Amino acid sequence: MEITKICCIGAGYVGGPTMAVIAQKCPHIQVTVVDLNEQRIKDWNDPDTNNIPIYEPGLSEIVAEARGRNLFFSTEVEKAIDEAQVIFISVNTPTKTYGKGKGMAADLKYIELCARQIAKVAKENKIVVEKSTLPVRTAEAIKSILDNTGNGVQFQILSNPEFLAEGTAVTDLLNPDRILIGGDTTPEGEAAINALVNVYANWVSKDKILTTNVWSSELSKLTANAFLAQRISSINAMSELCEKTGADVNEVAKAIGMDTRIGPKFLKASVGFGGSCFQKDILNLVYIAKSYGLNEVADYWEQVIIMNDHQKRRFSNKIVQTLYNTVADKKITFLGWAFKKDTNDTRESAAIYVADDLINEQAKISVYDPKVSRNKMLADLNYLESRSVEENNNAILAFDNPYDACKGSHAISILTEWDEFVAYDWQKIYDSMHKPAFLFDGRNILNAKEVEAIGFVYKGIGS
Ligand code: UDX
Ligand code: UDX
Repeated sequence: MEITKICCIGAGYVGGPTMAVIAQKCPHIQVTVVDLNEQRIKDWNDPDTNNIPIYEPGLSEIVAEARGRNLFFSTEVEKAIDEAQVIFISVNTPTKTYGKGKGMAADLKYIELCARQIAKVAKENKIVVEKSTLPVRTAEAIKSILDNTGNGVQFQILSNPEFLAEGTAVTDLLNPDRILIGGDTTPEGEAAINALVNVYANWVSKDKILTTNVWSSELSKLTANAFLAQRISSINAMSELCEKTGADVNEVAKAIGMDTRIGPKFLKASVGFGGSCFQKDILNLVYIAKSYGLNEVADYWEQVIIMNDHQKRRFSNKIVQTLYNTVADKKITFLGWAFKKDTNDTRESAAIYVADDLINEQAKISVYDPKVSRNKMLADLNYLESRSVEENNNAILAFDNPYDACKGSHAISILTEWDEFVAYDWQKIYDSMHKPAFLFDGRNILNAKEVEAIGFVYKGIGS
């Protein structure tokens, strides 16, 4: 089967960039991205592609090229489902906030809604592709809904997890390490797998396109994220030991990373990992392991999260202790709020938790982030429900320029590794601050010796 029409449900961080790249690389395929959120679709259709709702380097250019040609953003979900041969599901699967598995399991209500909608609308055979990260054996649930509520047409369910990282989404999509496609081992399943392989083969060489059974594919996504997060928690655990012993975690990371068996990536000690995936996927893995009675497996992976929470709390405690055990009414400047550089995404960002701790100590937080609005910062804090909306409103000041954000503050803490921070006039910043001026580098991006020479009391992670 030759694919000519694709629909994607969910115009978020995953669905939007993935479909934009498919459309750019496959001009013969019509790609329609639909979303329930009308504002989001309106933003994707903004005549100025610099205003699309997701900031990723290179994305607005791709949207400018393909939009209106073979890439469309729409709220007409049923029409798009009806017309497409392949339907990607890229809706969000947050951690459950209620009922069984609360705080751990993935909430699949949006996935189920999508499956029911597809079943209702489809009048011809369709391929349904799970793009969202899902617990193992979700495909089975989707299949059961499709087969039992559909109009008698055939559905093939494929798992095609996304491995893109935010901030590098476009390059990750253009040059993926691998594309993973899981499907049934029946002839119909294999035909569906092949159809999707041929879409990616328009720009990815076939030796990088891996096909497996559905369960392997689903579990590989959770495993990949768990391994990546585990590396960060491992180096962060060493960072605390380094601070006690006089070792430098950057040197340790470099030394072990040169062992080709370990490799240099994902060994950067930090204030803790954030983002929408790592914590959610590990909690999900832990939940699945527990549900099969595999308590040792569950405990092993849960420790990655425990370490990460500890690292964030340790960072805020260090700020309070260093500032003579009180930050009440002191101005503390945050450089960065996003969970990593080159994205406007703040989900699970360490900055949120560090701010929350410091506001509990009655500090005033002044923030500069090149891409995050004050409304977003407030929404993130309000979501924690630690205090009233009004109290959060009074505790957070946001600036659109770093020098104003730092002026008159007692301490700066770097929460995101934005490149521009390194190039600031640190002498000028130092001169405008209360003395002693403290600099807590949660990303180890500054040169300790240089800023200490200016006069800062510098505290990095793990040295
Ligand atoms: C999400 C998950 O976080 C990730 O685990 C998964 O791999 C892919 O989906 P992301 O794209 O970052 O990733 O989520 P988000 O930016 O929240 O986008 C989801 C979109 O789906 C939203 O725009 C939402 O409005 C839309 N949606 C949700 C629907 O269109 N229909 C629904 O029923 C539910
Ligand atoms: C991750 C996976 O990398 C990606 O493959 C998957 O599809 C989605 O989840 P993402 O969350 O976008 O991607 O970003 P990533 O680059 O993995 O960073 C996650 C967090 O770890 C960030 O807060 C980052 O700052 C932090 N990190 C990363 C470290 O603290 N140290 C490191 O060495 C690397």
